[in-house]
Amino acid sequence: MARVVSGIRPTGKLHLGNYFGAVKSFLKMQEEHECFFFIADIHSLTTHPTPSDLHQNVLQVMAEHLAMGIDIEKCSLFIQSDVPAISELYTYLNMNAYIGELERSVTYKEKKATQPKNINAGLLTYPVLMAVDILAHHADLVPVGKDQQQHLEMTRTFANRFNHMYGTDYFKEPQAYSNTGELVKVPGLTGQGKMSKSSGDADTIVFDEDEAAIRKKIMRAKTDTGPTEPNMEKSEELQNLFDIMALVSDYSTIAHFDDLHQKATIRYGDLKKQLADDVVSFVAPIRERITHYKNDAAALAHAAKIGAEKANESAYKTMKEVKEIMGFRKFY
Ligand code: TYM
Repeated sequence: MARVVSGIRPTGKLHLGNYFGAVKSFLKMQEEHECFFFIADIHSLTTHPTPSDLHQNVLQVMAEHLAMGIDIEKCSLFIQSDVPAISELYTYLNMNAYIGELERSVTYKEKKATQPKNINAGLLTYPVLMAVDILAHHADLVPVGKDQQQHLEMTRTFANRFNHMYGTDYFKEPQAYSNTGELVKVPGLTGQGKMSKSSGDADTIVFDEDEAAIRKKIMRAKTDTGPTEPNMEKSEELQNLFDIMALVSDYSTIAHFDDLHQKATIRYGDLKKQLADDVVSFVAPIRERITHYKNDAAALAHAAKIGAEKANESAYKTMKEVKEIMGFRKFY
């Protein structure tokens, strides 16, 4: 049985990218492995949420995990800030991370370009906190989307450096994982790379959203002007819609539209309508359960409490062992 760790930042409602990049793998792994899944609320502070937004977002994402099928009998589902050993380990591992390597992180470089007025120290040391999340529970596997690949590489670097510095084999090397065999990148609706909360509302299909809003977004998704002759290559925007279709529609539906595209008789309005129908059928039952859990304060409190107990036990043990290895000794 492998040890599995993964986290999601509570920065709004979960979208199809979060589900197919991460949560779908969580559902598979909780059946087979020892799993720690958490709401990365400390990570979300880099965007400076108001206190009430922070709380609302944690509640939302917690309810969404339960609604999507995370089973607290099978895994530990916890809130990152409920586990103080994580923050303590973060302090220690920060001492062994170099500014140069942190500055080379793709996410950091992106943030520097897109939000130049809020480049805080937390953004720079983000990969260290993420490594701590993973190493605190000695994870073998980390189910994540493709965008997190570099963070996993950095985690392995920090683990190996620690082992080398202290002449130990204490930390093992965790690997990124996807239930599909390859790390997933779900595209957005606006034709600009991955589906992402930060690229705006029109880009993402979120679960906790009504049917009309989902349909509207899909009907407005970016496409090209249509094929002018048979067997043309698909444009990036059109391929994005086919990629989303591959996640939620039947094989025969995809083959049908593919065929129409090859014959150059495809009507994008029909494609989008079919995609909207399939997304709505996929999302609807999950949305109902989200509403149910959001209103069930006792279930959320119970989940957070037992999740924190399991996670605290595991992270505290690691923190004590790390201190010991680093040379901290008690005088009393
Ligand atoms: P976050 O909160 O941005 O996203 C949560 C998970 O969803 C995946 N994801 C996607 N996958 C495919 N296509 C997309 N369009 C897409 N958008 C999001 C992400 O890859 C991620 O798996 N740093 C992490 C949170 C984190 C973490 C950890 C993850 C903190 N500590 C320890 C694993 C282990 C993040 O910001 O994910």
